[in-house]
Amino acid sequence: MPAILTPVRTKEDLLFEDSLRPRSFAEFVGQETVKANLKVFIEAARKRAEHLDHVLLYGPPGLGKTSLALLIAKELGVGIKPTAGPVIERTGDLSAILSNLQEKEVLFIDEIHRLHPSIEEILYSAMEDYCLDIVIGQGPSARSHKLRLKKFTLIGATTRAGRITAPLRGRFGIIHRLDYYRDEDLRQVIRRSAEILKVEVDEGGAAEIALRSRGTPRVANRLLRRVRDFADVKGKGVISAKDASEALDKMEVDAVGLDDVDRKILTTIIENFGGGPVGISTIAAAIDEEKDTIESIYEPFLMRIGFLDRSLRGRKVTDKAYRHLGYPPPGSGPASPQKKLF
Ligand SMILES: Nc1ncnc2c1ncn2[C@@H]1O[C@H](COP(=O)(O)OP(=O)(O)OP(=O)(O)O)[C@@H](O)[C@H]1O
Ligand SMILES: [Mg+2]
Repeated sequence: MPAILTPVRTKEDLLFEDSLRPRSFAEFVGQETVKANLKVFIEAARKRAEHLDHVLLYGPPGLGKTSLALLIAKELGVGIKPTAGPVIERTGDLSAILSNLQEKEVLFIDEIHRLHPSIEEILYSAMEDYCLDIVIGQGPSARSHKLRLKKFTLIGATTRAGRITAPLRGRFGIIHRLDYYRDEDLRQVIRRSAEILKVEVDEGGAAEIALRSRGTPRVANRLLRRVRDFADVKGKGVISAKDASEALDKMEVDAVGLDDVDRKILTTIIENFGGGPVGISTIAAAIDEEKDTIESIYEPFLMRIGFLDRSLRGRKVTDKAYRHLGYPPPGSGPASPQKKLF
């Protein structure tokens, strides 16, 4: 995937991510239902002077899970300790983190689906009873000891909700899915970022960038930076729709935000499998991509824009996608095998 459209964080994003992150719920654009719910729970916890229930945030990369976790802690007025599933290597690492948490503090575990099972198990009693079972000594003389923990809030984030085991999932009181952003929300993200980055973009320019951003704020911010580079080089002041589309066309960013892997998935299904239905493993093998990557990054977006349908029998390319890619939709022409049958 060309880095410019990947929703996954790149090194360059890292440089800007902090400055562009929303600093309050008011600045966190879109996701109204999620925000409204969280506000109620946060308010209630504050009123009772209690810790917030554990929160699980899931959804495709770049939609604001980390940003939201930081905001929750901020609105609660508590500290946040960030870590990530793959970083915690030993059970002792997690025990140390947990036993150092302060009352009501937030422990943020990113990529929580990647916790090792034996480490995940420690979380069960920590989340439910706020205690750690510690084994002291070895062999027959080993004794189990219960260590009490402060009442903390765990916020877990994942792009793969399906990978979270049932016992872990069941221990979260608040579970929210972040969805792709609507066009108008992305335009707002772009206008806000433009202000911070001191770039001038008019309404048309923001709209053009929003259209190609895969419903993803991280991609919107990245495209804005690239368009700004183009405008800088050309010595232009305010970025218009024409400037944005020229710049993005040059960078081969498709008008609906498709990248070459999206196109490869769709054309492979059309050309090799008659448009589907075809199983995800077969598609993965045919285009030489990880099944996991297709399921977590490409497929949700293609389904969201109505280019791919998913059924029990597999994935099917829609007529809309056929037209976008310049293929005649099945059943539209006299050569269609389906028509000949009847
Ligand atoms: N609702 C939003 N309003 C404004 N900007 C946002 C919003 N959500 C995300 N962003 C922007 O997108 C960037 C990426 O968001 P964030 O890092 O929170 O995504 P994520 O879901 O945690 O991604 P990943 O799955 O890769 O960890 C942030 O730096 C922020 O600038
Ligand atoms: Mg994140």
